Amino acid sequence: MSHTTLPPLPYDPTTLPRETARHYIPATDQEIQAMLGVLGLSQLDELFAHIPAPARMVEPPDLPEELGYADLYQHVVAQSQKNHLPDVTFLGDGLPHYRVPDLVPFVAGLRELMTAYTPYQPERSQGTLMTQWLYQCCLAMLTGFEAINASQYDRATALVEALQTAARLSRQGRTHFLLLGSLWPHDLEVVRTLLAGTRLTYEVVPIDPERGMVPLEVLEQQAVAQADGLAGIAFPQVNSLGYLEDVDGLTDLAHRLGARAIVVTDPMLLATGGLKAPGTFGAEGEGADILVGEAQHLAIPPHYGGPGLGVFGIRYNAAHQQDIRQAPGRFVGDAQDEAGRLAKVMVLSTREQHIRRHKATSNICTNQGFVATLAAAAILARGEEGMRKACMQARANALTAARGLLRVPGVRLAFPETPFWNTFVLALPCSSASLVETARQRRMHLGIDVSSRIPGSGGHHLLLSFSDLQEPEHLERLLALFVETIGMPRAEAAVSLPEVPTASLRREPVGLPSWDHEQLRTFFTSLSEQNISPDRTCYPLGSCTMKYNPYINEVAAALPGFAHLHPDAPLADAQGTLEVLYNIQEYFKAITGLSAVTTQPVAGAQGELVGLKMFQAYHRSRGDTQRDIVLIPHSAHGTNPATATMAGFETVQRGAETLSGVVEINAGPNGQIAMDHLRQLLDHYRGRIAGIMVTNPNTSGVFERHFADIAALIHAEGGLVYMDGANMNAIAGWVNLSALGVDAVHNNNHKTWTIPHGGGGPGDAIVAVSERLTPFLPGVQVVRSGHEYALKHPAQSIGSVHRHFGNVGHKIRAYTYLRALGREGVRRMSAVAVLAARYLHHRLKHHFPTLPQETPDSPRMHEFIITLPEATFETLEAAGMSRARAIGPFGKLFLDFGYHAPTVSFPEAQGLMIEPTESYTKAELDRFADSIILMLHLANEQPTILHTVPHFTPVDRIDDVSANKHVVVSAPLTTLPQVLPNRITPDQLAQMPLEAIAEAIRTTSAAKLQRPR
Ligand SMILES: Cc1ncc(COP(=O)(O)O)c(C=O)c1O
Repeated sequence: MSHTTLPPLPYDPTTLPRETARHYIPATDQEIQAMLGVLGLSQLDELFAHIPAPARMVEPPDLPEELGYADLYQHVVAQSQKNHLPDVTFLGDGLPHYRVPDLVPFVAGLRELMTAYTPYQPERSQGTLMTQWLYQCCLAMLTGFEAINASQYDRATALVEALQTAARLSRQGRTHFLLLGSLWPHDLEVVRTLLAGTRLTYEVVPIDPERGMVPLEVLEQQAVAQADGLAGIAFPQVNSLGYLEDVDGLTDLAHRLGARAIVVTDPMLLATGGLKAPGTFGAEGEGADILVGEAQHLAIPPHYGGPGLGVFGIRYNAAHQQDIRQAPGRFVGDAQDEAGRLAKVMVLSTREQHIRRHKATSNICTNQGFVATLAAAAILARGEEGMRKACMQARANALTAARGLLRVPGVRLAFPETPFWNTFVLALPCSSASLVETARQRRMHLGIDVSSRIPGSGGHHLLLSFSDLQEPEHLERLLALFVETIGMPRAEAAVSLPEVPTASLRREPVGLPSWDHEQLRTFFTSLSEQNISPDRTCYPLGSCTMKYNPYINEVAAALPGFAHLHPDAPLADAQGTLEVLYNIQEYFKAITGLSAVTTQPVAGAQGELVGLKMFQAYHRSRGDTQRDIVLIPHSAHGTNPATATMAGFETVQRGAETLSGVVEINAGPNGQIAMDHLRQLLDHYRGRIAGIMVTNPNTSGVFERHFADIAALIHAEGGLVYMDGANMNAIAGWVNLSALGVDAVHNNNHKTWTIPHGGGGPGDAIVAVSERLTPFLPGVQVVRSGHEYALKHPAQSIGSVHRHFGNVGHKIRAYTYLRALGREGVRRMSAVAVLAARYLHHRLKHHFPTLPQETPDSPRMHEFIITLPEATFETLEAAGMSRARAIGPFGKLFLDFGYHAPTVSFPEAQGLMIEPTESYTKAELDRFADSIILMLHLANEQPTILHTVPHFTPVDRIDDVSANKHVVVSAPLTTLPQVLPNRITPDQLAQMPLEAIAEAIRTTSAAKLQRPR
């Protein structure tokens, strides 16, 4: 293929200096030398001189040579074309493919929404907060649930979270569940994987092979027999064969037994004219208690299964005021700023891992936020009528197809009496697998062979799913295939299809607003202007690696060959994607030095969970079942202890002593693990250590120099070593993790490997493991035989942790980046990231003390922590701002200079953790350093400024205390919410001399202080 055949890029790369810089590093070689010179160094590798030699990689990781921009584009297009998309598809199976409104790609291109971080700084994140609020409202309207969180990874993991929530809510301490066997098998597998080793138990009630669903009578017998321990019943509204379960009966049964009714639903089918809203299930219409679903298809194409959008809802009404406090995930709520302007803020954060640590309700940190944003855009673009049309078209296509196909001799509905909506199962007079293959050869993805889901099936059951994507000619081609391979239709045959009972249908219209598309474009654009993006300038959130996200990654992921591929596509048609996944496995073996890799986990926290699940499986396989302790440094990210709890290491304490679960290790004054404390703990918990979780470089930005010794001590105790690799951007290509003794590590792809953060996700992860854990890897491995790629289950796999293959769309982005980096780029990227941090630290360290107290053996890696000088704290205290409250407002001064704030008060209560990344020039770093120094002058000179920050954002400081007292997480949508403008835009701030910004801050602050409060 020549360059001329490529589709035009949707942007001009020559106008984007970061985009066209080699390895996306805009600093010139001279600037790099100048920064090295300031540090007294001459070469990049000297930055790593303090890392013990045995841990250093001798050669750069063995990746292919880097590709220039044009070649890269050509390569990804060619790679996408190795997938064979069908002309017609009837795949769905819990992940259908609907028409995506044009507004969605438009919103996906709004960089300030797409690249921003989780909205921890609400004054600079109203865009993200509003889109996620809209998602919550739209889903609340569709489902009838009052509280929908701003997303979970996918339907399968949301189901696991639902079971855990129900157990927490059970007043009698019940921990047992009944799960309908008609839930998707992939979801049941994830439940099996993640509940193994926890205190929750469950049984799966099998499908009735005559009816294609689980009869209430059968379930009832089992439920009544187990009622004492029963915490919940989980059931699908439309089951994995396409049939409707008795949702009213199931809801009432759960309630009668004092258990929670947990429904798994498809929000697309809840549109006006469609199926009954789960908030109204039951004879009295009181509704189910917990809602789970998948909404990827509302927003984006299948992407070989992900990024998904796990829906999680909980009741929040007069009868259920407190349940929401046990719900996992992030909620956006109504708030006001200090001046009474309406705004949004994250609420109920005290349940989350970053605050509650091992007592958190879930370990999720990065969720699927941007897919939720896109789902909101998609629902609003469709409006009431568009949603109704999509839902009804899916139904109409299913009915038309059924009426045609059932006239073909020998073809019948597998369950003729059971009502379905847009998916049904045919019993064929031939093998369904061979018909699927015949169809494939005619460029049709027919459906899937579901014989394994139906007890006693003879291999002739075919599941067909319908959406609004099929045109009449597609249905004709489907019929023609049946006619040509099975036989001529009988013209006279009467076809009768089961009616959907009125009780299963939605009674009231949803009442979604119908806004004009232009209006919506303008609205979303103005929302994006409320945020900022790392495109513009340093986004210094320590530990979050907010680096530049190449535009070309987005183009690659959106190529139809990748984006439109369904995870149930025959493997022969998915070779392009499988090759990418295979290559990623190989690249990450090289980058980490470890033995094997899984691409299934979807975020760092999920990587951690995979790691600990593998630890448990490994110990179990050796009959070593006493290991109930996980050691975690005090400075670790909140996900580490929360993960350990989710995995089953629940912490039990007696007074100050930890009896089991998470045990904290102290840090020494140099910020590294205190070896004497570690040794004491190993003595105390001898024989019970399941493993240790250590972040390296740690959250202070310091390389744990004794990591290999720590690993050796843990291994000698029979434990295993998890390395939290959130900070891989500092060491990728330089440190061999195998030599460090790592057994499992996650890479956060949304940090090191340039996946956009999406205002809170979707993130992504790649987990690499040592040889001893290789047999236990989750999901499937992609294996190569000659030029073909296939899937293989690891011998003792822990099972899947995602309903399909993880966030595959993100793997395409990471792959595109890796091909741009090539062999040299991985090392260059991390070295320049470390250089930028050391240089910036050098510029600041004479003005600000460093935390933990700087010592010569702890050079900072890619980030560092500073705090305010003692004299400044005193000045602030004299102005009425206590030491404990000063750091947050100082962080907000960054917003006034057009930056995002650094990470405040983590892991040091009075710290500002700054991570500049490799994405900025020396001039940009210099302006950033000058700005921070000027902020300090301002705080010293006019300390009351910290009472009034921020000054130029669309809203003033948000009152999150009141927002958390009166939590409002949804409202009916009637008018387009008002969007307030920036008082000075970040673009304008970037153009202003720093002294002019300072002057504007002084005067605005003084004026604010005059305002009556
Ligand atoms: C050190 C560390 N560990 C773990 C995580 C969790 O990763 P994720 O948000 O991808 O789940 C983070 C995220 O910020 C982190 O900084």
